[in-house]
Amino acid sequence: MSEQSATPATTSATPRAVKAVIPAAGLATRFLPATKAVPKELLPVVDRPVLQYIVEEASHAGVTDVLLITGRGKTSMVDHFDRRPDLEARLEEKGDAERLAAVRRPSELAEIYTCRQPEQLGLGHAIGYAESHVGDAAFAVLLGDEFVNLAEPLLPAMMELQARTGGIVLAFFEVPPSDTKRYGIASVEPAESEYADIAEVVKVTGLVEKPKPEDAPSNLAVLGRYVLPAGIFDAIRRTEPGSGGEIQLTDAMDLMRREGTPVHAIVYRGTRYDTGQPLGYLQTVVQLASERDDLGGEFRKWLTDFVNAGFPGGSST
Ligand code: UTP
Repeated sequence: MSEQSATPATTSATPRAVKAVIPAAGLATRFLPATKAVPKELLPVVDRPVLQYIVEEASHAGVTDVLLITGRGKTSMVDHFDRRPDLEARLEEKGDAERLAAVRRPSELAEIYTCRQPEQLGLGHAIGYAESHVGDAAFAVLLGDEFVNLAEPLLPAMMELQARTGGIVLAFFEVPPSDTKRYGIASVEPAESEYADIAEVVKVTGLVEKPKPEDAPSNLAVLGRYVLPAGIFDAIRRTEPGSGGEIQLTDAMDLMRREGTPVHAIVYRGTRYDTGQPLGYLQTVVQLASERDDLGGEFRKWLTDFVNAGFPGGSST
């Protein structure tokens, strides 16, 4: 993306992250029973799985080395990024160039690597398995159930900020005060002015899990994108199981913050799609279907008629 090259390299504290990790081994309990046999990362948004949107986001940011952390029953995710010579030959025979390009697209986005988290002991625990792949460089983490609008990129600015601070970089989005109990919420202070050319940046002084509105230190919620220095692996090893008996990434990051690692965040004001639970997933499908060149016109017309007719077939409650 063009903004990557806008900042002189001389200001960087560390090299820019070049690898991404997508932890996707979770049990996806909020989407049961759909996710009993199908990973939530493979649920389709119109005609491509959620995971493809996420890998597209990394690829757009210039990150084409992607490690997928998978678990039991989730290996089918990786197949989506393979070539399918049999299918491609059939589409070629039929002269269906459009579908052929769509089938090849996932394999062209990135080099996909995998590793397994044998037991689902938390996000921090899952990220710990990336150590041998990532080595001692900073890396991006993209959670497997949310993504942002490609026209309003977030990762390039996060990677630039991380290269300059050498610390931890998070992303936040604003939520209505009544919603703070659904998210990790940040306490922040103004960031150093030297980062103001990158984006809207804040300095993070703490994170609270799902606070009641009256206890929330702000209305800035944690978005599922992180750019982390390699020191996180050691911090994860030193992190005891926390809430829910899981090794929490938040706890490992907080350990590093208390030991002096700077923690900053970008306040993201673009569109974020949350496909980790049914309501957000439905909203995502409707929004992205409406925007599609090929079927958006017809879909919007149907949706308008459906709404104007008072949701026929729906319950009156
Ligand atoms: P979530 O908190 O969304 O958990 O994890 P989940 O299991 O996916 O879904 P729910 O909450 O039960 O409905 C955030 C991210 O961390 C990954 C998930 O796959 C998701 O991308 N994760 C979580 C792991 O890879 N391993 C874990 O042990 C926990």
